[in-house]
Amino acid sequence: MPSHSGLFTVIERAARKAGTALRRDFNEVQNLQVSRKGPADFVSIADKRAEQTLFEELRRARPDWGFLMEEGGEVAGDPNKPRFIIDPLDGTTNFLHGIPHFAISIAVEEPTPSGKREITTGLVYQPITDESFWAEKGRGAWHTDQRLRVSARRDLSDALIATGIPFLGHGDFVQWSRIFGAIAPEVAGIRRFGAAALDLAWVAAGRFDGYWESGLKPWDTAAGMLLVKEAGGYVTDFRGGDKPMERNEFLAANDGLHVKLHKLVAGALR
Ligand code: IPD
Ligand code: CA
Ligand code: CA
Ligand code: CA
Repeated sequence: MPSHSGLFTVIERAARKAGTALRRDFNEVQNLQVSRKGPADFVSIADKRAEQTLFEELRRARPDWGFLMEEGGEVAGDPNKPRFIIDPLDGTTNFLHGIPHFAISIAVEEPTPSGKREITTGLVYQPITDESFWAEKGRGAWHTDQRLRVSARRDLSDALIATGIPFLGHGDFVQWSRIFGAIAPEVAGIRRFGAAALDLAWVAAGRFDGYWESGLKPWDTAAGMLLVKEAGGYVTDFRGGDKPMERNEFLAANDGLHVKLHKLVAGALR
């Protein structure tokens, strides 16, 4: 049983409160007010309400920390203090179609002595199943009281791989198709479930053996990447480098499968 840090307790409490509101809104989804931020880029009153709840709860607990939130953007805090990176509803398109696969993603990014910033805490909370996937840097990744480990599968022929497919106005269809063409014939299955934070959390939990996607935002991946790393997995860009955020390319898997998937991806992009 892990000892929960005070910060984790604060974050989980906020996520549960916002999750209760999301469950309520999900049951009334036909009546929700929805608008479009761009092509196929929907936002509902549920996204905004959940974000407001998370902001209020976390601000009260950590008044001088900054925020980066999908809907509300940046709220400045003390630059020497951490900031929260929040996706209040990852999987909005699922949510709006009555598909119960969506999550809240909260990460904490801290300044380091060398002037950089790193993610030190991550929570992906799935309101419908009431599951918390959480990680703290150097302290492992957890699901309720159980330590998370990435899958131990070694063979591509056994592997179930998740991805995010580009859609109207978003992403590089040609690149995605090339990578799909290289990976799909080699693996046991490919899934597109529609919530990037959960895709990464499920790689950490060993449910998926690997995952690739590009064209994401920091709030989609900040918590999930820490989960995968703390569960013993790897997240790189498509070149196998350590700049997935900067290059906006995410390839995640256990060590053995990562090498194999990376070879296929590199071959596809040559
Ligand atoms: C989306 C989901 C989806 C991914 C999209 C994201 P949202 O987030 O994570 O899986 O493919 O690129 O925008 O908008 O539902 O929070
Ligand atoms: Ca969105
Ligand atoms: Ca998202
Ligand atoms: Ca979102």
